[in-house]
Amino acid sequence: MVMQKGTKILPAEGKLGVLLPGLGAVATTVIAGVEAVRRGLGTPQKKPIGSLTQMGRIRLGKRTENRNPYIRDFVPLSQLEDIVFGGWDIFPDNAYEAAAHAGVLSREDLADLRPHLEPVRPMPGVFDPSYVKKLSGTFVKQGRSKRELADQLMADIANFKRDNGLARCVAIWCASTEVYQQPSACHASLEAFEKGLDENDEHIAPSAIYAYACLKSGVPYANGAPNLSLDFPAMIELAKRQGLPICGKDFKTGQTLMKTVLAPTLKARCLGLEGWYSTNILGNRDGEVLDDPESFKTKEMSKLGALEYILQPHLYPDLYEHFHHVVRINYYPPRGDNKEGWDNIDIFGWLGYPMQIKIDFLCRDSILAAPIVLDLALFMDLAQRAGMQGIQEWLSFYFKTPMTAPSLYPEHDLFIQLMKLKNTLRYLRGEELITHLGAEYYD
Ligand SMILES: NC(=O)c1ccc[n+]([C@@H]2O[C@H](COP(=O)([O-])OP(=O)(O)OC[C@H]3O[C@@H](n4cnc5c(N)ncnc54)[C@H](O)[C@@H]3O)[C@@H](O)[C@H]2O)c1
Repeated sequence: MVMQKGTKILPAEGKLGVLLPGLGAVATTVIAGVEAVRRGLGTPQKKPIGSLTQMGRIRLGKRTENRNPYIRDFVPLSQLEDIVFGGWDIFPDNAYEAAAHAGVLSREDLADLRPHLEPVRPMPGVFDPSYVKKLSGTFVKQGRSKRELADQLMADIANFKRDNGLARCVAIWCASTEVYQQPSACHASLEAFEKGLDENDEHIAPSAIYAYACLKSGVPYANGAPNLSLDFPAMIELAKRQGLPICGKDFKTGQTLMKTVLAPTLKARCLGLEGWYSTNILGNRDGEVLDDPESFKTKEMSKLGALEYILQPHLYPDLYEHFHHVVRINYYPPRGDNKEGWDNIDIFGWLGYPMQIKIDFLCRDSILAAPIVLDLALFMDLAQRAGMQGIQEWLSFYFKTPMTAPSLYPEHDLFIQLMKLKNTLRYLRGEELITHLGAEYYD
């Protein structure tokens, strides 16, 4: 990720374009939320709650120094006033219509925001129904080859930048989960990928065409779904060649967020795990897409990884060698975006005596995801102005399956991820890293 202590960070001057492939529940909730905050609409509760860049502070120096600035005052982030949203979808609904369809925000909130949401209209998407079997897009680009489709996306980006007088852009994938895919020959190098674009290689998914077009256009790219998209050598090579930051995969919002908080606790206390059964009901379009077994497989693989990595059964066989881990998602329309996630956790303690933990998280998927999209947009823009390129592991904090260098296992523990993120910011600003050793207080 190439960074230097106290590096020069270019100022956040001018407007920042935030390009969102997929103007669905998550994307419209972030657009509406940013609009509500910057226009001061509604009640005092309309604050960017859940956003580390807007609400979080960072401790600097010793505990006795009492230096705890807001992150937004510590590093030069773009202002919310300077953000311009754009994006693509495979349906022509504008952001107001899509938000009304998603049913996340109340009618009253949407009525207030309507004049600001209606002008946000998607550009036609790149779509292939074999990658998302539950949707039949009606607003899609046509092209003779995947190369042509990438060129059309690049033309969209250039027009969006020009028409809105933007200084910089970032892109965050907020579109549907595609069918499960492992890297194939066309993903192995940039040359092979570009050949695949020319030859319409069936292994190049729409999400990878967006990632390619954005990177070629000089736009950093974050992947909010578990899709392969850019987690392969060709795209890492392109990001480095273009000097751009990339990160992914799959926003860490509800059940996995809780998992990556609780599993480190079990491990910290050397409590054993017999099994972890996770199930969910949700009824939004994401839930409908995940009702297809092939898209679910992509999500399942993403959700299953965290426990293995955190608990390290190979190092702690007495505690974690044989645990069962099951993840289910059931599409249940009455719940809409208001997901309910249950976890039953069978653990064991002193002399092997069994115990159970139950979690019932009545969450709102897009309310949890929206601040992540905002933070990623602002941090990815910071990274590009700081000259950071390639995989941004310090942003693992936001992902279920963090992208890492090929030889590294991902760090899933939320608090290690947070420490890594904050130390990265300290490092960028030339501040002391905080190790929590604390010996100096007792000298
Ligand atoms: N909300 C969460 O908590 C959460 C957490 C992790 C990951 N995600 C992922 O974020 C993504 C968005 O979630 P959502 O709830 O907004 O879903 P959604 O179904 O409401 O929105 C996705 C949008 O993407 C559009 N789309 C599909 N394929 C497209 C393509 N090729 N090009 C352009 N647009 C396309 C769909 O028409 C839809 O409008 C999903 O992949 C989901 O799995 C969400």
